[in-house]
Amino acid sequence: MMSFHLRIAGSALLLSLIAPRAAAAEGMPRVEWRDGRMMLRVDGKPFLILAAQLHNSSAWPARLPAAWAEAEAMAANTIEAPVYWEQFEPARGRYDTTNVDALVAKARASGKRLILLWFGTWKNGQNHYAPTWVRADPIAFPRMIDVRGEPIDVLSPHAPSNLDADRTAFVALMRHLRTTDGDRHTVIAVQVENEPGAIGAIRDHGAAAEAAFADAVPADLVARLGRKPGRWRDVFGPDAEEAFGAWATARYIERVAAAGKAANPLPVYVNTWLRYKDKKYPGIDYPSGGAVWTMLDLWKAAAPSVDFIGTDIYTDDAGEYRKVLDQYARADNPSWVSETGFDAKTAPFLFYVLQRGGVGFSVFGIDADPVTPATEAATAAHRANFLMLDPIRALVAQAAFDRRLYAAVEEPGRAKQMLSLSDGWAAQLSFGPPPWGDTPAILANSPSQSGRAMVIRLGTDDWLVSGIDTRVEFLRTAADGRHGQLLRVEEGEMRDGVWHATRWLNGDETDYGLNFGPVPKLLRVRTGSY
Ligand code: DGJ
Repeated sequence: MMSFHLRIAGSALLLSLIAPRAAAAEGMPRVEWRDGRMMLRVDGKPFLILAAQLHNSSAWPARLPAAWAEAEAMAANTIEAPVYWEQFEPARGRYDTTNVDALVAKARASGKRLILLWFGTWKNGQNHYAPTWVRADPIAFPRMIDVRGEPIDVLSPHAPSNLDADRTAFVALMRHLRTTDGDRHTVIAVQVENEPGAIGAIRDHGAAAEAAFADAVPADLVARLGRKPGRWRDVFGPDAEEAFGAWATARYIERVAAAGKAANPLPVYVNTWLRYKDKKYPGIDYPSGGAVWTMLDLWKAAAPSVDFIGTDIYTDDAGEYRKVLDQYARADNPSWVSETGFDAKTAPFLFYVLQRGGVGFSVFGIDADPVTPATEAATAAHRANFLMLDPIRALVAQAAFDRRLYAAVEEPGRAKQMLSLSDGWAAQLSFGPPPWGDTPAILANSPSQSGRAMVIRLGTDDWLVSGIDTRVEFLRTAADGRHGQLLRVEEGEMRDGVWHATRWLNGDETDYGLNFGPVPKLLRVRTGSY
């Protein structure tokens, strides 16, 4: 009897020790895939990344308080900040966690999540964040060699010593995060390297690279791409050198990422210096070997441990923005704006990501120095999005994953747009600050072009609607001869997944559509027919 009790007590003790660990492991940030869509889960809940990224040299304890205050002013739920290899490993095998610990502490104190950016072998297609002991010793850590036979400012992806040094440091970082944050999940993802690839050469011309380029394309790559076997030029034609560079870069990063994830299974992504805006020369216009859209299939084949690939989009041209998002939103890759310009004009484009069921949006360089009217306008525009979406981030992420989220963005010459919803409904969107009374039949863009809106289907005839500078009118499109009507429009908020109405809207507030100005608000709409 005694031993029975002891066993119970013993197993209860064991359970109490294991349970929090199991819960912590259960809540580990992770990606989930279904039907060609990806969702991030944090602490067991769907998570939409609404991020502010610090300037490159702001992740130092001395600069952090000021930079962080600006990120907080934007109401981001996630801060993105670099971990510099040169600072993290100032001497070989000696790690300095001061900066990363300061970031984690700051994030916890302010209730934010963190995405860490590993500035290792690559930063903007160069090697400037590799430690001095690496960059000062090109014999031990070989550089890429350009077409003239000259070494360039990029570490060779064909040198095992480079890979080994970077991988060892990255694993040390991931292990440290596991020890210090494994049960807290402050860090929700890690960007491995930054805009990888080479500026200054299409591919490496060092001896090892030359031999590999003369050889056949690896059999597993041709098989994955469904191409005929052959040498690089036979298989990839005019893109052979870039494809070779992309394969070498992606394989290297695959090994770094896989080792890091084995130490700490956090979601890992790669960001991309894009081939867009008519740029076409690899190694000059953009780093050769990066995950540009023409190399995406190859990257997916070469780097399966990289969970997703992000887009660093620096344009306020809506068409260009959409084009890039369409290139990257695929059944094997989610829409993810890993960087975008700190500008009021880019704020509506977050809704393109929502439209594509994406996982998030990050504004780069938000710690403005000096603050100007333009940076204040940028903060206000992105803050409006984040204030709208963060309180309902789990619901939005789940709806995007389930394809129940519809969104649209004002574009030049497209101040009115029709959004096709499910269940025999559409939404007519009129962008610009909503006027009193009827919408003009022909609507011109407002000067700010700040309109954006989303509709989430909660259930049959049950919708959540929000937007900025947009009028939303529900139109019944079902061909059954019945008329559509709004049965109830409630303004309110969603707290922990439960709707709380603060008032019902009717009369002038609904007769000319549902009106959204510059201050975000949430409406729950019940539609019906008669
Ligand atoms: C893209 C890089 O990834 C960032 O670190 C930063 O250098 C920006 N460009 C600057 O525009």
